[in-house]
Amino acid sequence: MKDLFDLTGKIALVTGASRGIGESIARLLASRGAHVIVSSRKIDACQAVADSIVADGHRASAFACHVGVMAQIEAIFEHIKSEFGQIDILVNNAAANPYYGHILDTDLAAFDKTVEVNIRGYFFMSTAAGKMMREQGGGVILNTASVNGLVAGDKQGIYSITKAAVISMTKAFAKECGPLNIRVNALLPGLTDTKFASALTTNDKVLKMALHAIPLGRVAHPDEMAGTVLYLVSDASSYTTGATVVVDGGMLA
Ligand SMILES: NC(=O)c1ccc[n+]([C@@H]2O[C@H](COP(=O)([O-])OP(=O)(O)OC[C@H]3O[C@@H](n4cnc5c(N)ncnc54)[C@H](OP(=O)(O)O)[C@@H]3O)[C@@H](O)[C@H]2O)c1
Repeated sequence: MKDLFDLTGKIALVTGASRGIGESIARLLASRGAHVIVSSRKIDACQAVADSIVADGHRASAFACHVGVMAQIEAIFEHIKSEFGQIDILVNNAAANPYYGHILDTDLAAFDKTVEVNIRGYFFMSTAAGKMMREQGGGVILNTASVNGLVAGDKQGIYSITKAAVISMTKAFAKECGPLNIRVNALLPGLTDTKFASALTTNDKVLKMALHAIPLGRVAHPDEMAGTVLYLVSDASSYTTGATVVVDGGMLA
């Protein structure tokens, strides 16, 4: 019987893959046969992850890309075209959350940074990948959104707003790209133990309150996000597009 999770021969780009959830996704996709392009702003950190994937016997390479900078988005897709000639899987995972505080005190710099990375970055990474996928006859895009896109996080106003936009973006791309055989879905993680969430996980009072609201009673390990991504980028989910999958230990229940 065909292995529905087999990614042999696929080219997969994972942003924000130098650590955290993106690194877990990159490792799992590579273990299923994809060549993974490990990307973030810092090439050394990406190269270390790619080297370690290769040392495990799988395929990976590294390329730096700040997804908030349009020229760097163009550069990574030029690289992918010349090096691989195809892209089968895009995982938009790198995001910014520079401001933790009352929404009324959000300054323009924090607003711009969050929007540039989380909305403009995801959008133009998706159009660049989508154009290649249209030419080659199909592909898959996975957006890491957040439960905060459904229920605004306290003191995380502008971040939550951009994650709601990612959910809307997922549906808009899914609708228009379905006829092109391009599927587009979103992962909505709950609280996950990464550097990104450290403002919450290292504050005992905040963490205690957060855990009280999580039926599984613990923070997720980044590896616990990767299985859902493998499902959504593989043939196992071949009839799924425009979907948002919540992985939150039951919090929203
Ligand atoms: N952790 C949670 O509780 C949680 C919950 C819900 C959703 N999420 C979402 O999960 C995704 C991954 O977060 P994480 O928790 O794994 O965070 P993390 O461990 O801090 O990793 C963030 C990654 O993104 C990269 N990055 C940051 N800004 C970037 C930019 N402008 N361009 C390209 N790469 C950039 C970082 O590397 P460089 O510094 O080298 O660029 C790093 O690889 C994000 O979309 C986040 O919103 C996380």
